[in-house]
Amino acid sequence: MNLRDYLAVQQRLVDAELDRLTPPETTHPATIHRAMRYSLFAGGKRIRPVLCLEAARTVAGEAEGAVTAACALELIHTYSLIHDDLPALDNDDYRRGKLTNHKVFGDAMAILAGDALLTLAFQVLAELAAPAERKARLVAELATASGTVGGMIGGQVADLEGEGKPPDAALLESIHRAKTGALLRASLRMGAIFAGATEAEYAALSRYGEHVGLAFQIVDDILDVEESSEALGKTAGKDAAQHKITFPAVYGLPASKTMAEAECVSAHAVLAPFGARATRLHELADLIVRRKS
Ligand code: IPE
Ligand code: IPE
Ligand code: MG
Ligand code: MG
Ligand code: MG
Repeated sequence: MNLRDYLAVQQRLVDAELDRLTPPETTHPATIHRAMRYSLFAGGKRIRPVLCLEAARTVAGEAEGAVTAACALELIHTYSLIHDDLPALDNDDYRRGKLTNHKVFGDAMAILAGDALLTLAFQVLAELAAPAERKARLVAELATASGTVGGMIGGQVADLEGEGKPPDAALLESIHRAKTGALLRASLRMGAIFAGATEAEYAALSRYGEHVGLAFQIVDDILDVEESSEALGKTAGKDAAQHKITFPAVYGLPASKTMAEAECVSAHAVLAPFGARATRLHELADLIVRRKS
């Protein structure tokens, strides 16, 4: 199956599971469930759950049951986007080609929708049909990657506090590894944990996750400069307008592209021990670096 068809199949699998896990719009109190579903089903690429499923397949040859754990990543990611777009953070009007959550439901409901997705992510993991010890590791991994010390929230804090600061290479890398890289690495690690990876497999998939995680945010920064709002489904050119510390701001566009490519090369290299089992992960690394949205 070609990559495009494979991705479509994976995305349908993830969407169906997210739909099963999220209370229907009619469930009381309906407003919050409408707000959660509005952002969840707005057309995200589902990169994190797909990486999780593929890590499980790379380890175990199949990913039976892993889609539920994979969806916990997408729940956290969608919460982070809703909050990232709030007026108090990046103040964005568009996301995934639609008005942002707070533009439709108001700030209070958008905050609560983010909170609700975050809470649901951990409920989903707690209720997973998996051995208790594995579930505890999954919970710890997702919480750490989303948290304040080297995780998503810590990265968002540094990103906001970095606005207007002089471009600084070390600060830049730490922001990107935390705000985006941590959850991407967790995607690989959670697939590995679910599938019962050996320590060596877990370590190799972690390194792959670090390389594609950094590449992912470098490319996000490049696309913010080079692509249109229509192509991105979110407002282009926002980083420069808000004086964010980004790869193009620190290194310029050509060097940023070279650095994203270098991360991609490293991502391929660390997959070597898996041989042909990692074919899709190789393809996904290329996709992350060459994507246009
Ligand atoms: C956007 O993530 C926010 C970042 C962490 C860079 P994605 O590019 O994965 O967004 P969706 O999920 O496809 O909308
Ligand atoms: C967001 O980074 C990272 C998150 C944790 C959500 P950005 O602020 O660059 O993401 P976009 O460009 O708005 O999607
Ligand atoms: Mg932001
Ligand atoms: Mg933003
Ligand atoms: Mg961005």
